[in-house]
This record gives sequence, structure tokens and C-alpha cells, in this order.
Amino acid sequence: MNTAKIEEVVADFVALRKRGVNLIGLCPFHNEKTPSFTVSPAKNRCKCFGCGKGGNPVHFIMEHEQLSYPDALRWLAKKYHIEIKERELTNEEREAQSMRESMFIVNQYAQQFFTETLHNTQEGQSIGLNYFHKRGLRDETIVKFGLGYSPEKRDTFASTATKAGYNPNIIAKTGVCYSTDDGRLVDRFWGRVTFPVHTISGKVVAFGGRTLQNNPKAAKYVNSPESEIYHKSDHLYGLYFSKQAIMQHDSCILVEGYLDVISMHQSGIQNVVASSGTSLTTGQIRLIHRFTSNVTLLYDGDKAGIKASLRGIDMLLEEGMNINVVLLPDGEDPDSYAQSHSTEEVEEYIRTHKVDFIQFKTNLLMSDTSDDPQSRAHLIGDIVRSIAVIPNDILRSEYLRKCSEMLKVSEQLLVSETAKLRRKYAQEAYSRKQQNSSATVPEEKDEDLPIQVQSVSQQEETTKSTSNNPLYNKEHAIIQFILRNGEKQLLVPEDKINNTPAFTESVIAHIKYSLQGDGIEFTHPLYKRIFEEAAQHDSDPEFVAERYFLSHPDAEISHLTAEMCSDRYILSKLFSENSSEERNESAVLFEQTTRLVIAYKQNIIDELLKQTMEQLKDPATAADSTYYMEVMQNFKFLKETQQALNALLSQYGFGSAALNI
Ligand code: CTP
Ligand code: MN
Repeated sequence: MNTAKIEEVVADFVALRKRGVNLIGLCPFHNEKTPSFTVSPAKNRCKCFGCGKGGNPVHFIMEHEQLSYPDALRWLAKKYHIEIKERELTNEEREAQSMRESMFIVNQYAQQFFTETLHNTQEGQSIGLNYFHKRGLRDETIVKFGLGYSPEKRDTFASTATKAGYNPNIIAKTGVCYSTDDGRLVDRFWGRVTFPVHTISGKVVAFGGRTLQNNPKAAKYVNSPESEIYHKSDHLYGLYFSKQAIMQHDSCILVEGYLDVISMHQSGIQNVVASSGTSLTTGQIRLIHRFTSNVTLLYDGDKAGIKASLRGIDMLLEEGMNINVVLLPDGEDPDSYAQSHSTEEVEEYIRTHKVDFIQFKTNLLMSDTSDDPQSRAHLIGDIVRSIAVIPNDILRSEYLRKCSEMLKVSEQLLVSETAKLRRKYAQEAYSRKQQNSSATVPEEKDEDLPIQVQSVSQQEETTKSTSNNPLYNKEHAIIQFILRNGEKQLLVPEDKINNTPAFTESVIAHIKYSLQGDGIEFTHPLYKRIFEEAAQHDSDPEFVAERYFLSHPDAEISHLTAEMCSDRYILSKLFSENSSEERNESAVLFEQTTRLVIAYKQNIIDELLKQTMEQLKDPATAADSTYYMEVMQNFKFLKETQQALNALLSQYGFGSAALNI
């Protein structure tokens, strides 16, 4: 975290220029014309004031490269040549991991072999390269997509790879070759041009190989089989090259084939991916959804293309995607259209022929059948079924309104039909869940806590809504104090009454003991997590709360830390102006900590008093005299505690006015 400089990391992807102490550039996460992406070398963070994305170098890489936290760390370690010592794996894990890694290494090697064969051998050039040129691909495109060629001789790759020392078993596992019954290794893609399929971070996970023959008996494409590293349904062809453009345009164009993606890219339209001829899977849709919610299906205008579009629609709707459909003129596919038109023409075509899915279905079924009532009913039923799967209420009612307008059906009728369907879907989902769920274990509750503030801890909440819970503000103040000063030592003064000498301990430890002593736990889930983690790491050597939480793997925690610590400079300045007398920092810290903790405890007491008052007012309480006495006792105890806290505060020389933090 100390080595990775935010300005260096961002500069790998964004052109930055200086503005004051910061740097600014065009946000890589959304499309913009004036720069609102700000990089602060001082804070080692970046943030877009347009879309809000950003964070420390790790977060930036996670978001930009769509990597997990550990993978983002590896990415940065590689950039800065830092060696990472990873946890010792179990033997099984090590085997599985080294198997997967070996398979990626074989794929990488095969990829190199196929492209070298394409560009540097007689056969590759005259057959493979020639074919790609005939298909209108330029050399830079061929290189960008890593296209290659596998020679006719059926074991060219197999024998080259084994001679180079690659393990035949692993080669077979990747599927680049397969072994015959008599134990020979045969190239799967012999005599074909090859298309590598990349993972989202650019590793080669599979290949597609296209035949060059016109023989209708030969399969047009042969693909890598499923393997330990390749699950077809989790990949989309082209996503590695398109993710940036998808993010920037906030939309993704979905086509069918390898060549459709490649030709669209070549013509300058880069937010394109292919489902590779099969129906979309939920995994693939979620992959797109990481970058955008807007999908445009771009298919041939023929029957097969229309069928393919229809298949994808409901699934996309169910995943909360907005869908548009564009059908190309008959006889054209995205590949041929992009090859024979300019970028502007393709964009213009898409813009003017884009229809939403209702329009699409309506057009389709209307053209089939004129005004026959039965087929109209069928069409309406079909569309309503699609609308009913949309998870978002507003979008759903928007579509219902549109559908009613277009098909001239009463909106009321459509609404009630949809509602019926949704109830049915919900019931089905419910009974599926009932079948799947084993008995759930109820969460254990600690009944012995002397102080339990009802309801608040059970409330659903978000980090932002600090206002709806009266305790959140005080917890916020304590967490902020811990983030800024947690590791610092405070001086607990001598206690003459209990005869304990003065001693020092960290701010975190002091808060921990004073809350624990009264059985108090934070009610805000995120603050609670931060507090517990701080207490746990407090004794780590070199622990600095701000540094630790700023680079926390959980982006929410790290963002919160950045927010809470950002105005540190101003506050500390104010503070030093106010305290005229020169005092020992550890004494001041004790005072501040005590103030915060007491304020929090007072707040808890206030809440408990309110609850107890309610109980006393409740006729049911009055009806049971023993219970009533108990509640009264409790009330008295709380009142006394409240007074004791007030006394404590004045002992430290603060009136209650000082507590309005
Ligand atoms: N496909 C496949 N196996 C086949 C046929 C097709 O895996 N036997 C997949 C490929 O991913 C292909 C996609 O389906 O890219 C679309 O098929 P098609 O439109 O027939 O191929 P194109 O990519 O358009 O190839 P070409 O233009 O060379 O015909
Ligand atoms: Mn094609």
C-alpha cells in the first residue's frame, strides 16, 4: 500500500493533468467530456465526482480490471515488482491450483504457437492469413485478437509442445489436443484458423477453430471442451477487449459469432461481445451486468436471428437488464454489415432501428398475423409474461403503460394479469425454496447483556442513514475518533478513590474496556465491525488505525475511513487554536475519549429511559404489580446512572452542552 502510488496506477489507464495539488482526467468508469476524475497523491486515492467511483490503488484496479481483491493485489505487486508470499496451500489445493495454472500455461503456449504459425510459416500465411484477409480483416485486427492457425498435419502442435517439455496429460486436459484410444496425442484444431477466448483479465481459457473448407459435413467451428478452467457458460467472447467501451458507453451490444465481434471492433464499435452461438446463460448476463444494465441484441434479420433474440429476452429481463433489439437487413449479419459500412453508418443503423422488446415482439407477431383476435390474445399473453419477470416495479409499470398504448388494451387489465403472474412466480419460487432449505439455525443471542437496547440492532439499515437511529451519531463520533487516533496512547490519571496509579493505554483499548465493562455493543453493523477489528489488531506492532482501515479490503470500510479522515487537517487546526494552554497530548486524548464514551453512554441511558417510560405507561404493566415493581426498579436504576454520568462529566470539567458532538 505504501509503494502503489495512486497517480502512477491511474496513469496507466487515464491521461492525467495537474490541477493544484491534485491531478484530473476523464473518468474511465463512465462516459464524460469534461474531466471529473480526481486523483489525490496526498491521500493516495482517486474519486470521480461524476459517478462516485474510485478509492485507493487496489480499489481502482479492482474496478477497472474487474478483479477480486487478492487478484488486484497481485496485479499491483507485479507492476511494482513486489514478491508476494502466499499462504501455504493444502496439498489438495496446491495440486488443483498448479493444475489450473499449468493448463493456463499450456493454453498460453498454444496461443503463441498458433499465432507464430499463422504469421511466420508458409502454410500459415498462404492458408490461414490469406483466409483472414479474404474475410476483410486487417493485420492489426488479427494481431489484437490473437488469431492463429493450426497446421494440417494432425500432430504438429502435439509433438512441438511435448518436445518443448509440456506434459501430455495437461495438454490433453486443456483440450487443445485429445488423446486417441491407442494413446496418441492429436491436435483438435488441425487445419483450422484459431480464435482464442480470453478471461475477463486476459488469460487464454479456450479456443475456437473455424474450418476453411466448404465441406458442409465438417463442423464449421470446433471449440475447446469444458475443463477445469473452462466453463463455457461463464465466458463471453470479446469481453476482455470490450469491457472498457461497455463501461464508457454504459451499453453492450450482443452478437452471435466470433467474426461479428471482430469485424465490429475493426469498424470502430468496441462495446460488443458474443454469446458464441448458444443461448445466453445467467452467468453470462451477470458478467455483462457488472459493466452495464443496457443490452442491445444485434442479430441477423433471418428466422434464426429472430429466434435467437427471442430466446435471450426473458432471461435478460429477469436479470434486470434493459433490452433493445436491432435486426439487420435480410441476408446481413453484424460481420458483413460492419465490413461494408462505415462506423457512422453502423451506428446510425443501430440508432434508428433500435426497438425495445415490447415493440420487437409486437412487430414480429403483428406481421405474422393481422387482426385475428386469437393471435392478438396470444401476443398480449406473451408480452405480459415477459413484463412480469422484470424485477423493478417502476420499469414494469412503465412497460405496461407502453404495452397498453401499443396494443390498445386496457392498462388495468394488463396490470392485474401481471400481478397474477407475479403471484404465481413468487409462489413457485417459494415452494422451490421450501424444498431446498434445510432447517435454519436461529442466530444465538447473548441474554446476559446487562444493557440491551431494543429494536435498533435488528433494524435493517445502510451506512448512510445515520439519522434514523439516535445512537448512530454517537457511534459515528467514536469510530471517527478511533480511525484518527485509535493507536495513540492516552494517559489515564491516577484514581485516588480506588487507589490505582496513572497508566497509559491505547485509545482503542480504553474505549473497548469502558464499553465492555457495561456490556455495550455498537448497534450500527458497519461501525461494530470496524470497532471489533480495531480492537483485535490494536496490539499488532506498527498498527495505525487510519492506514489499516484506509487499505481495508472492504471498499465500504475504506471509503468510510477516507470520508471520516479527510477533514483531519482542518479539525486539528481548530483544536489547537481552541486549547490555549499547552497540554500533554496523552492527557488531552484521555479527556476527549472519556467525553465521547460518556456521551454515548448517556445516549443509551436516554433511550432505555424512554423505553422504560413507555412500559410504565402501558396498562398491561400496571395490571401486573410484581412486574410493575421491576420496571420501576429499573427506571430508578437508570435515573441514578444518568445522574452518575452527569457527575462524571462535570468532574472532567465539561457541562452537558459540550456533548453535542
Ligand atoms: N458456433 C459453434 N459451432 C458451430 C457453429 C457456430 O460454436 N458449429 C458458434 C461460434 O462461436 C460462431 C457462432 O456460433 O462464432 C455463430 O455462428 P455462425 O454465425 O455460423 O458463425 P460466424 O461466427 O458468423 O462465422 P462465419 O461468419 O465465418 O460463418
Ligand atoms: Mn458470420
